[in-house]
Amino acid sequence: MNILWDPDPSALERYRFALGPDTTALDSSGMVARALHDNPQVEQVVIGADVPVEEACQLSEAARLDRPELGVILLRSRIDVTTLSQALRAGVREVVGADDHTAIADALRRSRELTSRLIGHAGGGAAREGKVVTVFSAKGGVGKTTLSTNAAVALASEGHRTLLVDLDLSFGDVAISLQLVPHQSIFDAVSMSGNLDDEALRSLVTRHEPSGLDVLCAPNDPGDADRIPVPTVAEVIKVARRSYDYVLIDTPPSFTEHVLASIDVSDALVLIATLDIPAVKNLRVALDTLDMIGSPKDARVIVLNKADTKVGLRPEDVESAIKTGIAVNIPNSLTVPASVNRGVPIVLDEPKAPVAVAIKELVESHIRTQRASEEPDHGDAAARKGLFRSRR
Ligand SMILES: Nc1ncnc2c1ncn2[C@@H]1O[C@H](COP(=O)(O)OP(=O)(O)OP(=O)(O)O)[C@@H](O)[C@H]1O
Ligand SMILES: [Mg+2]
Repeated sequence: MNILWDPDPSALERYRFALGPDTTALDSSGMVARALHDNPQVEQVVIGADVPVEEACQLSEAARLDRPELGVILLRSRIDVTTLSQALRAGVREVVGADDHTAIADALRRSRELTSRLIGHAGGGAAREGKVVTVFSAKGGVGKTTLSTNAAVALASEGHRTLLVDLDLSFGDVAISLQLVPHQSIFDAVSMSGNLDDEALRSLVTRHEPSGLDVLCAPNDPGDADRIPVPTVAEVIKVARRSYDYVLIDTPPSFTEHVLASIDVSDALVLIATLDIPAVKNLRVALDTLDMIGSPKDARVIVLNKADTKVGLRPEDVESAIKTGIAVNIPNSLTVPASVNRGVPIVLDEPKAPVAVAIKELVESHIRTQRASEEPDHGDAAARKGLFRSRR
């Protein structure tokens, strides 16, 4: 799909022949940025002759880092050496005379070919896919929802296309934590099973406006949980990872079939413990279970929440009990329940609070390990190995 960025409302009609039918016209840089953010199908941006060269270069520079496969073509009424070198330095693929429609069509064709080659290199022909991260603990109340919502909001606020799926199907509280009023939920995906696509998924999510995060909420009626087949969850995640840079999954406190399906297709698994014996014991059991089912150890990120609680158990004791290092310690703070009660995630409410800083460290060091655009592609979702590699 192409975007024509041109302030002139008649431009689309004028360039129709050169650009083809799959082109949408937008008249401002904000709208173009938004469309690129929301729509991974956009592969070419053609920038009209009246858009200032500085603005065009800014867009191209940003896209070069975030979406290297995106083709940017600049139209100019007069092409001089300064414009040409400025544009090419910013990563614009071609600068073409605005009146030469044949040259525009040729440039677009070359750019499309380059885009396909780049996508091909990144994924053996498959589109680049987002990173799926499941947040889990076998014990309730340790902070799964707190960490998954805040991590997802942090990613979305940085401009990454992020989806949070509430897989705590009976008692999910992501919606209430973010003060969302969902009209649709993951239950509505059931009737679309087998035919779920990007557009259908987008009709089911609820936008958290302050951050730009999309949320696929749990059903309103807890009874609907049992009516969601496991393959529907797998399909939702498969479709979601094609449209989002990050798909985070909040879970109930047990290894349900839905949770197993989610872990199976995840690239990373955040496991949470707190400083109490039952939580540590449950983490140990969860790790043993994951070992047994062949989930790779290197995809696990152990987080100790409320890590500074003075209860006689120390983080070192937890590490020796679970025989695994803790990746991130998150302090205990009353600001967390207070922010939940206000319905504003702490990473937005009090970004400098130690809890928010620790959550952002979790995101930066263990979830957003690389820029989304640099992340390795996972290839064909059907063929790729999930976390349960040895089971396949
Ligand atoms: N670092 C923290 N400091 C203080 N309170 C916290 C912290 N993290 C979470 N909490 C509080 O602990 C409670 C449980 O957190 P949360 O709902 O995130 O846990 P959960 O694992 O999702 O629970 P459940 O298993 O019931 O879904 C909440 O009241 C939350 O505000
Ligand atoms: Mg929860």
